[in-house]
Amino acid sequence: MSDKEKSTETKREGFSTTLGVLAATLGSAVGLGNIWKFPSLTGQNGGAAFVFVYLICVLLIGLPVMISEFIIGRRAGANNVGAFKKLEPSPTKPWYMTGVVGVAAAFLIMFFYTDVAGWVYSYAFKSLTGGFSQVGATETADVFAKYVGSVAGPLVWQWIVLATISVIIIAGVTKGIERMTKTLLPILLVLLLICDIRALTLPGAFAGVEYLFRPDFTKITAGVVLAALGLAFFKLSVGMGTMTTYGSYIGKKENMPANAVKVALSDTLVSILAGLAVFPAVFAFGFQPDAGPSLLFITIPAVFKTMPFGQLFLTMFFVLASIAATGAMISLLEVPVAYLTEEKRWSRMTATLVSAGTMGVIGSLATLSTSTLSDTLVFGKTFFDLFDFASSNIALPVGGILICLFVGWKLGPKVIMDEASNAGALNNVVFLKVFTVLVRYVAPLAILAVLLNGLGIITF
Ligand code: PHE
Repeated sequence: MSDKEKSTETKREGFSTTLGVLAATLGSAVGLGNIWKFPSLTGQNGGAAFVFVYLICVLLIGLPVMISEFIIGRRAGANNVGAFKKLEPSPTKPWYMTGVVGVAAAFLIMFFYTDVAGWVYSYAFKSLTGGFSQVGATETADVFAKYVGSVAGPLVWQWIVLATISVIIIAGVTKGIERMTKTLLPILLVLLLICDIRALTLPGAFAGVEYLFRPDFTKITAGVVLAALGLAFFKLSVGMGTMTTYGSYIGKKENMPANAVKVALSDTLVSILAGLAVFPAVFAFGFQPDAGPSLLFITIPAVFKTMPFGQLFLTMFFVLASIAATGAMISLLEVPVAYLTEEKRWSRMTATLVSAGTMGVIGSLATLSTSTLSDTLVFGKTFFDLFDFASSNIALPVGGILICLFVGWKLGPKVIMDEASNAGALNNVVFLKVFTVLVRYVAPLAILAVLLNGLGIITF
């Protein structure tokens, strides 16, 4: 390494401690995916059987892709595009396009994510300021319809969300991302556990527990499997370079595979805990579990309204969801920011403002999907659904295949062993052998099969 390279490398920011690495990566994984998507998709796809398929996707696909991204990021010590360029400099082999697609996917996700995060922030604000105290349990559907059907409110909240995360991102990797996630994650866990205890001690709560854990395998279809795979990618923040970018901030002495396992397990646990806060309450009060995306905003407030201390729990629940959404969005915004500052030499401030601004402008199409643009369909979907489907169910799985192929075949077993064992310092040879098989064969083939099958291109 030349002196010049060394000096730019030491200037690069990174996560300062092992706990900081865990907090940031877990803070990225835990988000609206756990609290909003997991319960609503589980409810729409038949409960426990979906959860079962989801768990398999996490273990066999999501986890290997996460470790792969860490390997790419830390080995190269660069952003999502620069990393591929460093590891494959040949211009005739454009692997860096994987990184470019990843940056595009970060935008695609943010277009709708900031919209939902805006709903969550506004619900947190409304319940904190007593705005729900006059709303009866039967009126929550109207309240939600009125809110998302309006134009100014959701747009303003989307911009408040973008401004909040921009401030954190401008503060930098150590002072912004690491510090925020380390402070917020424990608060989130405590709030979630309190909501769980409340829900599980309701009379009739057990039906919800059963719904989450007793599978009915006849419910599994190709579409259900693709939804579970898409959710696994989305949940673990993999397939588009978030973990590559964060991997580049991980120190050379950190145990990356162990961190990935911890993130995958904890994230799954948080999803289950969110499910246990939602479904027992839903069943206890006789609501339907399959309300879809509105589950969180109609059913949950209604449920909380009908229970003692409901106002307090409602507030806690939405504050918690806001915290989770924030950690995830920081990691999404960091992907283009790292790319623009390193590859295009923009200042962190400019990169953040331009990226967030773009997310706000195009993201308003998603936000207006529930009001003025509700009849505007592209490929038969509203902008909101299009951004959601195209990112989770297409861009992330395709990115996942490319990432697996790059690490499994282009970098190959030797580099995998070297990088993921810290040049032999970690005693994890057997684990890495299993990982190598998963990343070379199992994960890419499984993703391809599920993708083609789920999109109806081939049927088994
Ligand atoms: N994992 C986040 C969530 O569950 C979403 C996310 C996806 C974040 C992709 C970063 C990258 O909400």
